Amino acid sequence: MRDTLTAPPARTQVPIRHLAGPDALDRALIEQLLERAASFEHGSEMKAAPLLGRLLATVFYEPSTRTRFSFEAAMHRLGGQVLSAENASRASSAAKGESLEDAIQVIGGYADAIVLRHPDVGAAERAARVAPVAVINAGDGRGHHPTQALLDLYTIKKELGRLDHLRVGLAGDLRNGRTVRSLALLLSRFPGNELVLISPRALRMGEDVIGALNQAQQGMQETSDLGGAIADLDVLYQTRIQAERFESPEEYERLRSVYVVSAELMRRLPEHAILMHPLPRREEIDPLVDADPRAAYFRQARNGLWVRMAVLDWAVAH
Ligand code: CP
Repeated sequence: MRDTLTAPPARTQVPIRHLAGPDALDRALIEQLLERAASFEHGSEMKAAPLLGRLLATVFYEPSTRTRFSFEAAMHRLGGQVLSAENASRASSAAKGESLEDAIQVIGGYADAIVLRHPDVGAAERAARVAPVAVINAGDGRGHHPTQALLDLYTIKKELGRLDHLRVGLAGDLRNGRTVRSLALLLSRFPGNELVLISPRALRMGEDVIGALNQAQQGMQETSDLGGAIADLDVLYQTRIQAERFESPEEYERLRSVYVVSAELMRRLPEHAILMHPLPRREEIDPLVDADPRAAYFRQARNGLWVRMAVLDWAVAH
């Protein structure tokens, strides 16, 4: 009789679909995933259970609300089940000194895909090199957050009707904010977009992303003047100053309130434009702004469900 516990999984005939960073996402795949996400949102795929009998491991070495819950909800809604380490740095054998590579090889023997959040830049790529199943990057330190960028694009398309010929302001902590780093690169896959990188000098976008944008001949400008940039934007994408990435608490205190989107500032944002934020927020958007119909950030967070259903379906069901 065949030993179903020790027999190697029959997964190796097809290439594993990792999503370790934005390089995995060309325009065709982005459009495919956004279309699939829309079909999940509009209910045309909801009756099927394409991931019935499949297991997802969510392995989070850093805190999360949106990314972990939306991936787990997505897996359940697709008919699959979830194994979760929500505090893996303390509650997994990482606390005993186990390497990421060893942990991923072991977890990959139990699950059909791994969603990984880790404080080290490049952790998802390291994991993908050794994993026997798909690895999806849910944020690697100040590196990238590709599924956040996908749900950001989904939100822009839904709210404004297109992903090209847009003027998008990315504001706040561009040095440490992985969501804006990934989003800038994905926006450069679409023609005619203009990026306005709005940050204090100390929090400028990294040279690696600037270099890739230049390589893609992406139109962009840099400024520290949020008030001056806001009036001709289609999207203002505000971000949190990432306290957890600062070595000096004094530097964080100096920069934490550098940009605050208030109801008064919103008067300068065009009527057709939207205000986005990956969340969580602190003081950088006044809660009084939430009632403004252009404030899209809670709708944006909700869109993560549909987009992560599409990503799991793509990575696991093929
Ligand atoms: N936007 C985002 O990644 O949120 P979480 O840290 O709550 O997952």
